[in-house]
Amino acid sequence: MTSASVIIEPATSGVLDEVLAIEQACFSAPWTRKMLAAELSGNQFAHFLVAKCPDPLSGSLAVAGYFCFWVVFEEVRLMNLAVLAPFRRQGVATKLVCTALQTGMERGATRAMLEVRVSNHEAQTLYHRLGFRQTARRARYYDNPEEDAVLMEMAPLQVSVLCRQPGA
Ligand SMILES: CC(C)(COP(=O)(O)OP(=O)(O)OC[C@H]1O[C@@H](n2cnc3c(N)ncnc32)[C@H](O)[C@@H]1OP(=O)(O)O)[C@@H](O)C(=O)NCCC(=O)NCCS
Repeated sequence: MTSASVIIEPATSGVLDEVLAIEQACFSAPWTRKMLAAELSGNQFAHFLVAKCPDPLSGSLAVAGYFCFWVVFEEVRLMNLAVLAPFRRQGVATKLVCTALQTGMERGATRAMLEVRVSNHEAQTLYHRLGFRQTARRARYYDNPEEDAVLMEMAPLQVSVLCRQPGA
């Protein structure tokens, strides 16, 4: 699979089952169906994207990842991002985040921020290469397991050159 074959599109209620399955496979404290549904249709600030990729076995398009982010006035807040293990390291998350940054720019946002578990070096690397910098740490921010959060921010908001590469 190349990142050019990844299709990013807005999530609909029809993909809620797939998104819930991704959430449960990827997080120790997953969002519930109710929480996901509330982001999908009950939050005026929320944007919800899915990444569809060709399934290597069937060739049909599968929901491989999803991303929920908020655009709150001048700020893009990255909320939940996950990609199923078989589809990782192929640029899917990068493409999702790039789409969010582009949406934020179009809506006049000037900065982006997120929290990530201190132990989640993979995600921190992903965000760092897209232009986010660590700004602070929040003690015991997460449960299950309890862990500090690293706060990362991009200000001013920019769409990384990585997002302009072919297929990104
Ligand atoms: C973090 C996550 C979303 C990355 O998804 P992905 O589609 O594999 O990410 P990408 O392919 O776009 O990776 C972009 C870059 O991030 C870094 N990266 C991603 N996964 C990595 C890993 N396991 N180890 C080291 N670096 C990694 C690399 O620099 C990578 O570029 P490269 O593959 O050219 O080296 C995915 O691993 C995941 O869903 N993890 C579980 C849920 C999670 O942690 N979500 C984030 C919460 S803040």
